[in-house]
Amino acid sequence: MANRSHNPATLHPAEPSPRVEQGVPQLAGGWPLLGHLAEFQRDPVAMLSRGWREHGELFRFRLGPRDFVLFSGPEAHDFYFRAPEEQLNAKAVYRFTVPIFGRGVAYDASPEIMSEQLGFLFPALREAAMRRFALIMFDETRRFADALGEHGEIDLPHAMNELTVKIASRCLIGQEVRDQVDAGFAEAYHDLQNGINTLGFFLPRLPIAAHRTRDRARRKVAEIFGRIMAARRLSGASPDDFMQTLMDARYKDGRAPSDDEITGILLTVLFAGQHTSAVLATWTGLELLRAPSYLERVRDEMRDVYRGAEAVDISGLRQQTVLENAVRECERLHPPLILLIRKVLSPLRYGDNIVPAGAMAMVSPAVSHRLPHVFADPEQFFPDRFAPPASEDKQHHYALIGFGGGKHACMGKNFAYMQLKAIWTVLLDRFDFLPGTRFPRPNYGSWVTGPETPCRVRYRRRSEPGVFQ
Ligand code: HEM
Repeated sequence: MANRSHNPATLHPAEPSPRVEQGVPQLAGGWPLLGHLAEFQRDPVAMLSRGWREHGELFRFRLGPRDFVLFSGPEAHDFYFRAPEEQLNAKAVYRFTVPIFGRGVAYDASPEIMSEQLGFLFPALREAAMRRFALIMFDETRRFADALGEHGEIDLPHAMNELTVKIASRCLIGQEVRDQVDAGFAEAYHDLQNGINTLGFFLPRLPIAAHRTRDRARRKVAEIFGRIMAARRLSGASPDDFMQTLMDARYKDGRAPSDDEITGILLTVLFAGQHTSAVLATWTGLELLRAPSYLERVRDEMRDVYRGAEAVDISGLRQQTVLENAVRECERLHPPLILLIRKVLSPLRYGDNIVPAGAMAMVSPAVSHRLPHVFADPEQFFPDRFAPPASEDKQHHYALIGFGGGKHACMGKNFAYMQLKAIWTVLLDRFDFLPGTRFPRPNYGSWVTGPETPCRVRYRRRSEPGVFQ
């Protein structure tokens, strides 16, 4: 087994210099023209894990005409996340988002402008806002629970999608957009999401029906957001939300972002944060439901934290470490983004290996989270691995990378954790759930990896009075 978990800084310290530069080891198998495409499409995580077992922290493979290199393990992640944008470039990979987010926004802007645009939003994620978001998350989940009635059956991914669209539109955009979820916004957002497809990844402007629908939906969203911004300007209303934060923001050169840029930045955040949250909320529910003894500990913790309280709040959520460790374990086992990709713009030296320009460099949270030298018994759902004394995520920097790292690290991680905890606190307080007999497989056909659907779960209102009833 070659170069597994080598630290590039200490690679072969005893070897005489000059070092021998090697090509990156190539994964065995693959076909002419197609490369490893068929195996990758069948099960990318199994294929990439095979690569790690055979070659260790760095190997390459081919998907059609493109060369890919996978970096696995904490040291390799550290190197990957630290590489400068001129060498490992995100913009070149995420161009397919430009028709959705819009011109001059996020990956269509220079890295400096993109970081200014996302930086506008940090004030909207500060403590006071997070405190308010916790109450919104509680309120939306309680309304959702009320609508479920006494008992029934839901398709869990669908239900979590519906709920997180409401939470995200209210917290991340503004109340007016939440009010329009059923009056056109949800449909337009859905059409925009369907605009992300394999063809669009390579040819985002190809005139196909899905892209025409996508472009119509983008215009519709711009119209909805534009109307809301105009009404705010007219009335002088200035609510404390992301949209207003952007309306009040100024670039370093003093320019205000245009309405279209504001729409694009809001869509960037919504696309980054909503579906990913829905998927991780689904996996969290599914894992808890098949671990009844851990679920009991989550409920005991809820009773301890919220006895006598009327709503979940931020300080309560912060005390729910038993639930938090379950969410973290689901981030580990079921990261919604299984691959993070960058284009190599200039040759990259990692240890003795040179990754050539033009290749695609990836890290895979799904593969790296299953490395047995980082996480003991990695296939097991075992949330206590994150509690002392094991604290497995603290043993290595970048052991857990479900929210990325480096300059493109997720800005919404705390928001997402809080949301997932709020959702499952309310739902577990109100209902008992019974999942299907078979634990679902991941659906790798989608950009964000949720369980295969339908994924039905039965529920019944608990006879015991809950904390919030
Ligand atoms: C469970 C939920 C979430 C997961 C798993 C997740 C995961 C990630 C990951 C892996 C990245 C890095 C992508 C890369 O390196 O290519 C990322 C970036 C990002 N996330 Fe999240 N995210 C989640 C929720 C959120 C939320 C709620 C927000 C907004 C409040 C958000 C906003 C963003 C933004 C704006 C970026 C891009 C940062 C940049 O490129 O500079 N995410 N997220």
